[in-house]
Amino acid sequence: MGLIFSIDAALTKFSWLDYGIFIQTVMMAAQAVGLDMCPQVSFARFQNVIAEHLELPADYEVVCGMSMGLSDCDSPVSRLLTGREPVENFARFLGFDS
Ligand SMILES: Cc1cc2nc3c(=O)[nH]c(=O)nc-3n(C[C@H](O)[C@H](O)[C@H](O)COP(=O)(O)O)c2cc1C
Repeated sequence: MGLIFSIDAALTKFSWLDYGIFIQTVMMAAQAVGLDMCPQVSFARFQNVIAEHLELPADYEVVCGMSMGLSDCDSPVSRLLTGREPVENFARFLGFDS
């Protein structure tokens, strides 16, 4: 199944922040019922095609798409594990020294 997330373009970065949290909640809910998913911002490049096909209001902007379903665990792509940056490399914790 494919999902397209869109937003009223008049909304600001704070609403986009809310939307990111919402999208993560969708992913957590999907995972809780045994579904796998892959968010893909690359759908946003096809704004015009998607807007026409889904009859989006003229002032709506595509945020991202998301594939959702059951992953093929035997496929090599499903076994790709991406690395994670150590938290110290992107965050500073102030006032937590013991
Ligand atoms: C909002 C969002 C948009 C993303 N868009 C793309 C995308 O357009 N193309 C892509 O290859 N990965 C995209 N990713 C990354 C993949 O969804 C996925 O996180 C990545 O394949 C790594 O998988 P992992 O998070 O399970 O390690 C996006 C992730 C997020 C959270």
